[in-house]
Amino acid sequence: MKKRVGILISGRGSNMRALVEAARAADYPAEIALVLSSKPDAEGLSFARGVGIATAVVDQAQARRDGLDREAYDALLHKALTEARIEFVCLAGFMRILSDGFVAKWQGRMVNIHPSLLPAFRGLHPQKQALDAGVPVSGCTVHFVVPELDAGPVVAQAEVPVLPGDTVESLSARILDAEHRTYPDALRKALAQVP
Ligand code: GRF
Repeated sequence: MKKRVGILISGRGSNMRALVEAARAADYPAEIALVLSSKPDAEGLSFARGVGIATAVVDQAQARRDGLDREAYDALLHKALTEARIEFVCLAGFMRILSDGFVAKWQGRMVNIHPSLLPAFRGLHPQKQALDAGVPVSGCTVHFVVPELDAGPVVAQAEVPVLPGDTVESLSARILDAEHRTYPDALRKALAQVP
């Protein structure tokens, strides 16, 4: 049976879209049962609604106005995921650091995609970090999420060349292409490791 997967986004949602498209195949092990955004105006939400996928918003700006701390926000996330009977979570451009408590609840059942070859260039702006370091090769990594940021067992990686004259934009676009190819295969592989 297909596992019920929830995808957490904050913006464009192009990786989410790649996962949704892969999940259309009858033999793909995931059904995208929820797309949840931290921002009500995330572009990815319209795509998900358009293809009839359930969506939810846990509005981080509203949460801040309401005085909710990180744990309280993450409790709302967890509630939305469990109400939708989500079994596995994919982070796809979800621009928040998750609390240790939330990660503990989903550890082994949550993966993230990061636009560098981890452990190189963790954190923000990894494409710029790669350009500044002058590396000839960068890429993307799908990894299980652990409390430490951009750490955790690697599920899959893909390399892309860094070319002379590359800008943050051109390198990011080349890595993003690789992300779209890598994430669906990586999710398949990760789900095979879930009891
Ligand atoms: C991707 O580069 C992803 O690796 C990073 O944020 C970006 C999200 O892009 N975590 P999108 O929203 O999937 O288009």
